[in-house]
Amino acid sequence: MAMKKVLFLCGSPRRKQSASLCTAKYLARFLDFDYEFLDVAKAKLSTDPGEAEPAFLKIVEKMQTADAVVWTFGAWLLFVSVQMQYLLDKLFEQGYDFSGKVAAAVMTSVRVHDDFILDRVRFVSEQLGFGYAGDVSAVGNPFFGYVEDEEMTEDSCRILAGQLNRALTDGYVPARYYPPVERRFLSSTHRGPGFAVDDQPASKTGDKTILVLTGNRVSEDAANASIIESIQRYSRNSVEVIELQDRHVGPCVGCYLCDFNGDGVCVLKDEYEAIKQRLHQADGIVYVGTCASGMVDCHLKAFLDRGWGIAHRPTLKGKYGFVIATGGGPLEAEAGWYLQFVLNKFGTRCIAALTQSAADGPAFAASVRRTVEDLDRALDEKWQIADRFGIRGTNWTFRDLAATSGASLRADYGFYKEHRMFDAPSPGGLNALMRLLFKSRKLERRLVVVNRERVARAREQRLAAHLQHGRLGQGKEIPS
Ligand SMILES: Cc1cc2nc3c(=O)[nH]c(=O)nc-3n(C[C@H](O)[C@H](O)[C@H](O)COP(=O)(O)O)c2cc1C
Repeated sequence: MAMKKVLFLCGSPRRKQSASLCTAKYLARFLDFDYEFLDVAKAKLSTDPGEAEPAFLKIVEKMQTADAVVWTFGAWLLFVSVQMQYLLDKLFEQGYDFSGKVAAAVMTSVRVHDDFILDRVRFVSEQLGFGYAGDVSAVGNPFFGYVEDEEMTEDSCRILAGQLNRALTDGYVPARYYPPVERRFLSSTHRGPGFAVDDQPASKTGDKTILVLTGNRVSEDAANASIIESIQRYSRNSVEVIELQDRHVGPCVGCYLCDFNGDGVCVLKDEYEAIKQRLHQADGIVYVGTCASGMVDCHLKAFLDRGWGIAHRPTLKGKYGFVIATGGGPLEAEAGWYLQFVLNKFGTRCIAALTQSAADGPAFAASVRRTVEDLDRALDEKWQIADRFGIRGTNWTFRDLAATSGASLRADYGFYKEHRMFDAPSPGGLNALMRLLFKSRKLERRLVVVNRERVARAREQRLAAHLQHGRLGQGKEIPS
């Protein structure tokens, strides 16, 4: 009988610096079955969900011959990296099913909605037919590619490896948690229906600008086209539309230079910075996202990922906006929540999150119109809207991250202080000292190296202890 195999699908574009890969490699040491690491980000899959290029087929073939796959990734704006999303889009669009196989996940993050992200990954795994064995959620150091909370993470890895070992030995496939959803709602080519936009147009008396960002090309998305027509027709202000599919905005590569360089500017040379500038110039911001693979379309997602520099210093403050999710039936509620979260996180006050399927055609058309009129009002009257806990909690997390990683995030620390976002106790004491020390780049670099070496040494010692007790797995790495 052929030996069973575990395939790690690695979605981080950070290659050797990837904290999730480092964590997965640790987990693999406890597997009793052979395992392989496959770099999905490096495969550079196309954004066309219908294209079955050789790199994609190679990944599929490896998935089909594996008995378990482990999604291995850093949290990328509340989901997997967009490079991994290209794979999911193709798997859903091209009708793949992996029933009878087991999936698990190893995710590193800074713990901003890690539960939400892993839940989405479980959901998409089950929609692809996998039984979901469980996951590891670890805090990855965003800068140096190792995980914090070392021992706890190591235990989680050993536990998950043990579960995979037992599942593969017994041929056990965990039961579903989520009922199957119609495939078309997961497909990135399924679009919502258009609707009539024929009420009296507003007279253009406003002096503000509303910027609408949509992932898909509007001419190919009837729902988004009607929404945009509504905004143009019913707003008193001028409306600018950016169709991201036709703009050159590539995936975030996770270099964190937007954090290191205090100005938050992205170093990739494409149209991202120019569009970001338009966002800063606009008064109102609207995201229109089409659902795909249990998330929003990869064009909008790629752009939002690139906004990591804004997430740390929510400079789109003082603006108002709303979000709409289309084309996903029952999945729109989650996508709408996601878009609302991101809009808020970037500093803009979100006055509404709409989903197309939540209402019938005319009711939805009326809701869009009302919301457009509300946005005009919010802009004129400068509505005061309190942060909900989700966004407050996230601001605290970032605030604490800024305080504990004072080194790299010194600019953000300044931003948060200036905008009085420290409305809960922040880790102080030692961190205040750290921040002083980290004023020197040279010292910063030295401390980073020392810390990295310390972490690696401690981990090797713990691994050696396990080896002594003979508790490492029997599996070997298969070269990719
Ligand atoms: C564009 C981008 C988006 C991110 N989004 C999140 C997030 O939503 N939640 C979170 O907790 N961490 C987030 N992070 C932090 C990373 O997930 C974290 O640093 C992780 O350890 C990276 O894993 P990797 O090194 O394997 O890529 C994000 C990082 C980047 C660059």
